[in-house]
Amino acid sequence: MQIVSTIKEVREIVKEWKKQDLSVGYVPTMGYLHEGHASLIKAARKGNEKVVVSIFVNPMQFGPTEDLASYPRDLEKDARLCEAEGVDLIFHPEPEEMYDESFCSFTDINGLSNALCGLSRPIHFRGVCTVLNKFFNIIQPDRAYFGQKDAQQAAIVKQFVKDLNIPVEIIRCPIIREEDGLAKSSRNTYLSQEERQAALCLSKAIFLGQDMVKNGETDAKKVTEAMIGRIKEEPMADIEYVKAVNGLTMQDVSVIKAPTLVAMAVRIGSTRLIDNFVVE
Ligand code: PAF
Repeated sequence: MQIVSTIKEVREIVKEWKKQDLSVGYVPTMGYLHEGHASLIKAARKGNEKVVVSIFVNPMQFGPTEDLASYPRDLEKDARLCEAEGVDLIFHPEPEEMYDESFCSFTDINGLSNALCGLSRPIHFRGVCTVLNKFFNIIQPDRAYFGQKDAQQAAIVKQFVKDLNIPVEIIRCPIIREEDGLAKSSRNTYLSQEERQAALCLSKAIFLGQDMVKNGETDAKKVTEAMIGRIKEEPMADIEYVKAVNGLTMQDVSVIKAPTLVAMAVRIGSTRLIDNFVVE
């Protein structure tokens, strides 16, 4: 496994692979890797001859009051996980490598980003799309792998690569949960022991909503209200949203049917957590 930090090095390595007609799978990350990332890497490993992981805490997708400075980082541990999962190349650029002083071009997306997380994080998806557009140009992967936990992000990425004719297949992989149900996230490390316990209200609400839908409930209001009720049983929880939307357009729906996405963002203390389920 190679670890490089410059765009030039990535281009040279990938050029050699392309000469040999080898397919390239790509897993974009901000590091502090966990089993959720490992599942994306495994899928990339299975579906491609070469696997690239980027580790980059992208300043452009953090708002001024968000956790850019405190976002957890541990390159050595990440490299061990990547090595164990059979990654071929880690790209770990410094912010200056990605955004030099003259940088002024952005990739923005309308509509899909003006809902759910986009409402409280207005510049977030522009930052995500901009950095991914750059990574797609640098790495030129055949396939890129995204976790369903960030369902809105995955839908947005799918749309922008289609709109901009970027030749990469976007593959979504299921949410990976802790044994007690909490969706895996690098941000879970912010939680104190008490908050970690309180955070279970998210997955409990997800499982409740899923059960209601499985048992035939199609009224979005009834499902989301029941989920809100479950979260409110936890005094440490502060709900940002619990919504049923069309999984492709992110517009609110009143009737739950495929492809409805039922998604939530909830603060536990100062940690913002998200979770969701999709009705297939
Ligand atoms: O989901 C993430 O970790 C980030 O948004 C991503 C896709 C790596 C872009 O910085």
